[in-house]
Amino acid sequence: MTLTIGVDVGGTKVAGGVVDDAGRILVQIRRDTPADDVAKTRDVIIEVVSELSVGITVEAVGIGAAGWIDASRSVVLFAPNLAWRDEPLREYVSAATGLPVTVENDANVAAWAEFRYGAARDADDSMVMFTIGTGVGGGIVLGGELLRGANGVAAELGHMMAVPDGHLCGCGRLGCIEQYASGSALVRFARAAARQEPHRATALLELAGGGAEAITGPMVTAAAKGGDLVAAEAFAQVGRWLGTSLADMAQILDPQVLVVGGGVIDAGDLLMGPTRRSFTEALAQRSRLPVAEIRPAELGNAAGVIGAADLARRL
Ligand code: BGC
Ligand code: NA
Ligand code: ZN
Repeated sequence: MTLTIGVDVGGTKVAGGVVDDAGRILVQIRRDTPADDVAKTRDVIIEVVSELSVGITVEAVGIGAAGWIDASRSVVLFAPNLAWRDEPLREYVSAATGLPVTVENDANVAAWAEFRYGAARDADDSMVMFTIGTGVGGGIVLGGELLRGANGVAAELGHMMAVPDGHLCGCGRLGCIEQYASGSALVRFARAAARQEPHRATALLELAGGGAEAITGPMVTAAAKGGDLVAAEAFAQVGRWLGTSLADMAQILDPQVLVVGGGVIDAGDLLMGPTRRSFTEALAQRSRLPVAEIRPAELGNAAGVIGAADLARRL
């Protein structure tokens, strides 16, 4: 049995785990991500790896990071929603731990985990996954392999154009789908509706303690599940945008399976219903042909650790 370590570096948490060759997490630890401090974030990653490898033999380390990774899987070139700029993460972690390290995009890592062990484990060829969080991440598997592109930055699905001259995106451009189909967009939609029609958003505003600006993603989910119409409409808007992007991917790649992941899928049909309807509408005549099923991700928070560790095994 070979063991590898997977580390999932998100905006709020660094999660690390020792994973076996069946994709099972044997030991896991979590630390807060030092906000906007790249040097400290690097130290936390190194600490997590060192702590996990005490007393066990691990072969390699995979790191999932929310940004654009260079073709050699070493450097985080840019991160739209984090402070990384040309960060040579692999070099630092490898030098400090003496282990082989690979750095991979966070959404690629999650897609890989779902393809191997999760929602798309029955697919043997192709899948496309959207990960909905602060940003919108993408992962594409083709011919059983993760698509990385000529320069390492393929599958940046969050930065497809949705609205010309639309909202400013963290990538510097206007109107990316990330600004309409992310968890941040969900909150923006809910806050705007609660400001404009407070009388319809009483449940949501009560959860937020009165002010629209205090509304968070989990509150929108809780209120929507409790029957709040404004919260449900915010999910429906995200779903409508997401459905169009899923349809674009079906048109381009015709994959076996489409997967949607991220915290927002806790809303269940409140998100998936509008997503599927918008997908079918956007496909128009194409929807008369066989087309991939849209499935919710199955591995939740663990996908990052499992996928990163599995990719490290292939170093
Ligand atoms: C970034 C991606 C990342 C995604 C999810 C996007 O803004 O461009 O690299 O995978 O957010 O974290
Ligand atoms: Na990606
Ligand atoms: Zn963008």
